[in-house]
Parts: sequence; C-alpha cells; structure tokens
Amino acid sequence: MPRVFSGIQPTGDPHLGNWIGAISRWADEQQPDHVFCIVDLHAITIPKPPGEVREKTLDLAMWLFAAGLDPEVSTVFVQSHVRQHTELAWILACTTQMGELNRMTQFKEKSDGKDGVSAGLYTYPTLMAADILLYQTDEVPVGDDQTQHIELTRDVAQRFNARHGETFVIPKATIPRAGARVMDLQRPEDKMSKSAESQSGAILLAETEKQTAKKIMRAVTDSGSEVVAGPDKPGVTNLLDLLSAVTGRDIPTLEADFEGKMYGDLKKTVAEAVNDFVRPARERYAELEKDPAEVRRMLAAGATKAGEVAEQTMADVREAVGFLQ
Ligand code: TRP
Repeated sequence: MPRVFSGIQPTGDPHLGNWIGAISRWADEQQPDHVFCIVDLHAITIPKPPGEVREKTLDLAMWLFAAGLDPEVSTVFVQSHVRQHTELAWILACTTQMGELNRMTQFKEKSDGKDGVSAGLYTYPTLMAADILLYQTDEVPVGDDQTQHIELTRDVAQRFNARHGETFVIPKATIPRAGARVMDLQRPEDKMSKSAESQSGAILLAETEKQTAKKIMRAVTDSGSEVVAGPDKPGVTNLLDLLSAVTGRDIPTLEADFEGKMYGDLKKTVAEAVNDFVRPARERYAELEKDPAEVRRMLAAGATKAGEVAEQTMADVREAVGFLQ
C-alpha cells in the first residue's frame, strides 16, 4: 500500500472547492497509510492576527472529521504538534540551494512587490519537503500550483540520499481526478478560493443552506439560453460541472435532462443537489462543534501516531547527517 501524505493550510474559510477537490475525496479514499496534516506552521509564513491560527486549525479539523476521516484508519494531526517537522526543515534548508528557492513561482507571486516578506515564506518549500519526507511518503495528491514544490522535494531528497546515504523515499505528485476543479460562481474563469475578496462566488461549508442556495441562484450565467457546457459558456459549464461532481452523473446526461429548460431550472437543481451533498457533513460538524475537547483528543492521538513515524525517520536522519548521539 503506498503511503499518501496530504497537507492543508488552516487559512481562510473552507469552501465547496476544497470539499470536492480535496477534503471529501480524502475521506472517501482513505487507507491505513494515509497521513493528513493541518499545516499551521505554513500558515504563519504570512502574519496572522493572534488567535486566528488556533481557531482555524480546530475548525478545519472539525471539517476533516465531519467529512469522515476516521482517526482509527488514517492519521490526522496538526503539524506544530510533531516537533520533528521543524527539526527536519532546518536540515533540509541546509540541503537546499538558494537558487532552487529563488525559482519557486509561488514565492515569486506571493512576495512580488511586497515589503517585509518573511524568511519563512522563502523557506516554505523546505518545511513542505520535511512534511512529506518525514513519513517516507510515496504519493502526494496536489493541485498544479504545488507540483513545483514536489519536484523540489524530490531533488532535495535525492541530494540528501546521495550525500548521506539512502534515507528518504522519493515521493511523487499525483494529480486529483478530473472534475475536481470548482470555479468561482461570480468569476467562473477563476478557481473558487478561500480568500476571494467577495464571498459571493464561494460556497462556504459553514454557511446555511439558504445562503448556499442564494449564491447559486445569483451565479453568473452566459448569453444564450441553452443549458450546455462549452468554452463560450463558462458560467453554465461551471454549474454543470458542479452538478456532475455532486451527483456523479456525466455532463452529456445532464445536458439531455435540461433540454428545453432554462438557466433558472439548472440553478435550482444545482442548489438542491449541492445542499444535499454537503448536508451530512454540516450535521456532523454541528455535533463536533459541541465537543471541541473530543476533537482535540482525536488530534492528540493523531499526533502521537504521526510522531512515532516521524521520530523513526529523524533518528535515521540525525545519524546520517552525523550528529553526536
Ligand atoms: N503548500 C501546500 C498548499 O498550500 C500545503 C502543504 C504543506 C502541503 N505541506 C504539504 C501539501 C505537504 C502536500 C504535502 O496547498
């Protein structure tokens, strides 16, 4: 069984794009060797108001458990609870070349034109490499915006192995299945995003069914009136993709269903289907919210499980680097 590692940042408000593209899929596909990490150390590469990281970490954990991630099956934990992440990140920072970090497009985009950019934002990829390599990961499911970081992780792991002897498994990126991309309801050319300035284009997991329905009914559509997908109809295509993702039915079947019907009919159907899809998780979330102590206990158990694997790797790494034991 390949070991799979997934990381998700506790920033912004979790939305339907995260749900369809990552969280609910992780839950459906979980295996005993899957490791799920809420990367709170990555969240502070851009300064956050006090208390925000703690609150968002607990909230995200509740959504992961609400999705059905089962602490008895997979390992769900918070990055800062397993100290080996920062320890390995330092060693990997010493294995990574500045030229490699200078080439990272995410760093270039996030730092471009900004004052006071943190060194942490720059060394972000070495912490991400540590996350992955600590667990001797085979596969990392990521979106295209992260594949460059996985390439770097592979290069750094290979360099470490060449310098110090075989220590790390070389991981590879796996790209999520098609249909996992949910676009913004107001700007269907852009991905639905956690930090979109206007929240009218993103369906938040934490909102009510009424709010969800309202956003879908107000989604932008395109000229014409036929319910068909196509490059000239980004709005309608997004609604059909969404409906397909939450019902499991393919686009041609859906187009046939809506023959002779109007955009309004499509939106009504999408609103109901999306709410049906998220309802069980929203109900479980409401239960978990009543018992945050239990959520913290589950995370603590996850950290213990993760920590055992992480410490095995770190013991090998300390020996390989040549520290006095
Ligand atoms: N950088 C990833 C993102 O922004 C989050 C992340 C941190 C991650 N560590 C990871 C993803 C390890 C996969 C594996 O989406």
